[in-house]
Amino acid sequence: MGSSIDIRLETLTGPRGVSAGWPSNGKAFFIETFGCQMNVHDSEKVAGVLLARGYQQVDQPDAADVVFYNTCSIREKAAQKVFSRLGKFRPGHAPEKIIGVLGCVAQQEGEEIFERAPWVSLVCGSASYRKLPDLLAQIESGSRRVMGLDLDVEETFETEVTRRDNPFRAYLTIIEGCDKACTYCVVPFTRGPERSRASASILEEVRQLVDFGYSEIQLLGQTVNSYRDPSARRMAFAELLAGVAQVRGIRRVRFTTSHPRDFHPEIVQAIEAIPAICNHVHLPVQSGSTRVLAAMKRTYTREQYLEKIALIRRAKRPISITSDIIVGFPGETESEFEETLSLLDLAQYDGGFSFKFSPRPNTPAQHMADSVSEEEKGRRLAVLQEKQRAVQLARNEALAGQTFEVLVDGRSSRAEQWAGRTSCNRVLNFTSPGASLLGQYVQVKVSRAGPNSLVGERTS
Ligand code: 5AD
Ligand code: SF4
Repeated sequence: MGSSIDIRLETLTGPRGVSAGWPSNGKAFFIETFGCQMNVHDSEKVAGVLLARGYQQVDQPDAADVVFYNTCSIREKAAQKVFSRLGKFRPGHAPEKIIGVLGCVAQQEGEEIFERAPWVSLVCGSASYRKLPDLLAQIESGSRRVMGLDLDVEETFETEVTRRDNPFRAYLTIIEGCDKACTYCVVPFTRGPERSRASASILEEVRQLVDFGYSEIQLLGQTVNSYRDPSARRMAFAELLAGVAQVRGIRRVRFTTSHPRDFHPEIVQAIEAIPAICNHVHLPVQSGSTRVLAAMKRTYTREQYLEKIALIRRAKRPISITSDIIVGFPGETESEFEETLSLLDLAQYDGGFSFKFSPRPNTPAQHMADSVSEEEKGRRLAVLQEKQRAVQLARNEALAGQTFEVLVDGRSSRAEQWAGRTSCNRVLNFTSPGASLLGQYVQVKVSRAGPNSLVGERTS
């Protein structure tokens, strides 16, 4: 899945071009982001902190005085990327630049980053971003090395200004960290325990986002549906979805990622009742084998998971479902892998992501016995992806002739070609002559389908 978005609107906070007009300090920063949407949104907030200090954002590290990498450590490959980026700044190559490592690799590797890349001057994990202004001030006044790695934070990361990069979809973190203990996952170590934001503050930000011109909001959390309102209001997650959807000016509310354990019928009921809540649920299963799920400590069986799927499929409005799957978890046998394949037939996912198991530091699965060979993991992944491709193609082909409302968020390099997203999060490409449609909602009738996107004709 994924559309190409070849536009960059030079706005600070929203599609209407609200400019904060901060006094310039004459310096520039560059930030590159790896990993999940939480990281993407964290980078938006970090950019806001820097803009408020008078830095200007540039899109090349060479042109920057401050270079930040916001890193991901979910799999080894992702974690390695930052060290290859850092390698380009060996002493002598980039004099005078402040190089900072943020995010999950920062949290995980801590001080070791200074040892591997002594030219780095700032290391800060996501749970310590509140300290960024202080850390920057220390660097600006001559400190060689500063670090923010606390995890035991009470507060979430709020900023005066967030420089949102996506002009059409505003990300909004409602819960940080993770209290689940999936045995393969670094997130509880890199992002700390769950902390939810008060519902009133979330709703206030949604109202501001509408003022900035946004009509689509995506609520974020590693386990977004484990949200627990810390205020006296005690708003349940499904109520919060409804509350956000009912803010005047909001046309679409998305939320990701849902954990099956906390996925309750009320969420489906909210989607059924309120058209502005998008009919898409990302509900990672990870494996189709109850034995492997137990070894992963996912807290549900294959059957319990499939009951959640049935609940969603019974909804009065069709709801698309996507998933994440890991192949080659330690000890996964051929027949357990086949159970994952058969789950694909039953779940009929509309999309998703699949990965080879990657052992991560500190996690219980790191040292589990019976590791599956890399070659075998690769084979399983290819088989799984081939099967899922066929499922998706069939599901998409069944949509031919139907008309969907899309929010246009991209323009292809070919003239008059546009890309939009349906409420169910499918990419729908279409041709339309004339003025720019970016940011508009239009009706498009599906004429053709591929496994990852649809093609259609505009009807309004
Ligand atoms: N190895 C492979 N994939 C992983 N994921 C999380 N940890 C690992 C790991 N150690 C996958 C899961 C998760 C997604 C974000 O990344 O499928 O849902
Ligand atoms: Fe990667 Fe997880 Fe960190 Fe997101 S939270 S950046 S997926 S390790």
